[in-house]
Amino acid sequence: MPETGRIELTEDQKKLVRASISRAERMAEVVGLDFYQRLFELDPKLRPLFQNNIQEQSKKLMATLKMVVDGLDYSHELVASIRSLGRRHVQYGVKEQHYDTVGEALLWALQKALGSDFTPEARNAWLTVYNWLAATMKEAAAEAQASFDTTRFTAPSRKDPA
Ligand code: HEM
Repeated sequence: MPETGRIELTEDQKKLVRASISRAERMAEVVGLDFYQRLFELDPKLRPLFQNNIQEQSKKLMATLKMVVDGLDYSHELVASIRSLGRRHVQYGVKEQHYDTVGEALLWALQKALGSDFTPEARNAWLTVYNWLAATMKEAAAEAQASFDTTRFTAPSRKDPA
């Protein structure tokens, strides 16, 4: 999936995701705040990673989701910005295993907002979108981490005579 950079969704799944984001967008503030509340219930240790205003943060998260949904037909063009988002998350102290907890809290918040419209099919389509986002971010984060580790590992040897 990240090799092609495309989100593998059928046209019907795209419709479901678009319909739910447009409803969720109208309740963006509630969805965002429910999401963070659920996230910190699931893992209270994540709370200190967020140092800035949660309301502002939740708007940024919703805006990114909207950007991805608007770009479903050309998701490969979003890869560069999603990868750079993933690299920034390394600096925020985010680890690979946190992505599952965030995914769970996000689906929970969408379910709460959309109620019975969040059908199993809609949930599945969202899972595909989130998994693509998370995989793209994690891959870039792991690469950034690896090159950082290599730099640290090789740095002292540069002082050694060749
Ligand atoms: C996979 C979907 C995710 C998306 C779309 C996303 C989106 C964002 C965005 C747009 C920002 C604003 C700052 C920036 O652009 O660099 C941000 C910041 C942040 N995100 Fe994420 N994020 C995701 C996953 C995660 C995960 C798994 C964690 C783990 C707990 C996390 C924790 C944070 C933290 C700690 C910040 C900085 C908050 C602050 O400045 O107070 N994010 N995220």
